[in-house]
Amino acid sequence: MADKLIIFDTTLRDGEQSPGASMTREEKLRIAKQLEKLRVDVIEAGFAASSTGDFEAVRAIADAIRDSTVCSLARANDRDISRAAEALKGAKSMRIHTFMATSALHMEKKLRMTPEQVHEQIRLAVRFARRFTDDVEFSPEDASRSDPDFLCRVLEAAIAEGATTINIPDTVGYAVPEMFGHQIRTLRERIPNSGKAIWSVHCHNDLGMAVANSLAAVKIGGARQVECTVNGLGERAGNTSLEEVVMAVKTRRDYYDLEVGVDTTQIVPASKLVSSITGFPVQPNKAVVGANAFAHASGIHQDGVLKQRDTYEIMRAEDVGWTANKIVLGKLSGRNAFKQRLHELGIELESEQEVNAAFQRFKDLADRKSEIFDEDIHALVSDQAVHHEADEHYQLVSMAQASETGERPHARVTFSVDGSEQTSHSEGNGPVDATFKAIEAKVGSGAELMLYSVNAITTGTESQGEVTVRLAKSGRIVNGVGADPDIVVASAKAYLNALNKLHSRADRVNPQAGV
Ligand code: KIV
Ligand code: ZN
Repeated sequence: MADKLIIFDTTLRDGEQSPGASMTREEKLRIAKQLEKLRVDVIEAGFAASSTGDFEAVRAIADAIRDSTVCSLARANDRDISRAAEALKGAKSMRIHTFMATSALHMEKKLRMTPEQVHEQIRLAVRFARRFTDDVEFSPEDASRSDPDFLCRVLEAAIAEGATTINIPDTVGYAVPEMFGHQIRTLRERIPNSGKAIWSVHCHNDLGMAVANSLAAVKIGGARQVECTVNGLGERAGNTSLEEVVMAVKTRRDYYDLEVGVDTTQIVPASKLVSSITGFPVQPNKAVVGANAFAHASGIHQDGVLKQRDTYEIMRAEDVGWTANKIVLGKLSGRNAFKQRLHELGIELESEQEVNAAFQRFKDLADRKSEIFDEDIHALVSDQAVHHEADEHYQLVSMAQASETGERPHARVTFSVDGSEQTSHSEGNGPVDATFKAIEAKVGSGAELMLYSVNAITTGTESQGEVTVRLAKSGRIVNGVGADPDIVVASAKAYLNALNKLHSRADRVNPQAGV
């Protein structure tokens, strides 16, 4: 029988560490439920010790998820590990993932510790984590640049203390495939107790080789767990992309000879959900989940594909969840049908009041748009969560804009600032520019606009536009998102959402920033 390749998803932890990708508890819970539907083996739900918000998110996910193991990251110290264990208490199956840097550079410059101190702290941390669970993962951060002899000593000690998974991170994306594969193989061969642990890899994509490195570690090195994220989201250039690894192993089963438990038909819905919640659009030519990845899904019917599909297609679009957008609800759908659809989509709103508010938004949308798809419902719920939080400082009240050939576009925006309404006007190069300038004229945030993007949520010109606005100020980067059939309105919502994030949310602790 073929070995199993364990899929460890870290979208909610490493993915969330990418600048601007921070998510609320409710958003994380929705993604976790989708990951469970996708049947990933392990969900790294966050870094519980980072903040109360992160702790609560890990706890909510641990309480809700039944079919995947739920994991929290913890630095190699008692406080982090206790917080992780506490947050994971309600999980049906829990894992503590503790880590510490082992490269000379990180030990000296970041940790300011000697190798002996690091070795000892790792032993104590793994031993301490084992008090709470039998499922303990240890990662030597920056492993691909660590001294191999030291790495062997540390990993042997971690396994002896009870680590059941050893994860080798290529933290800075420095590895190259064959070398990395051999590095894993050498570690497994040299460490006397290596057979007592499952070997895992965690690769970053700085040189565009995260997926190749992970697969080489599997093929050459015998790794049996891959850490990855939906859409390859993650710090800097991102992590190993879940969809690419899974489809490579499934499509080339002849070569890898491994079982993967993932339900691949849930890949595209997961990709769309992560993209709409984080505001990180998926490039059209992205493998598996990009809009152009399949000729027939993108409407390009090449002659060859028409004659025989496998002339150009090695995977079937429907096997990864590309289905024609299904009309799920319409103007005449009632509250029960709407509630049922929310349930089927794994969306659980916290109160009847929230269901009522969402239903009202659905009705408003159905008045403007005759066909409502699943993607619209996801966007509507995200929009409600994002734009109706009690602590929202800026809220859009109304707006108008005019553009005419030969005239400079003009916008009027009325929005509330901490409950009091303000109206502002501006001209601009285009209606979106005029809208942002009108908002800025009153707010004066001075933030730098780093990205503006619009995506159609579904097909056709009736589609809602989903806008991402990325703002940077004083070293903080935030993403704002907004959805509406009118893309200028969606843009205003996204801009105000980004301003709200700059205004209210303190930056979270990055687990890899210090000791
Ligand atoms: O990239 C990395 O080294 C990590 C570890 C915490 C596993 O994310
Ligand atoms: Zn990482």
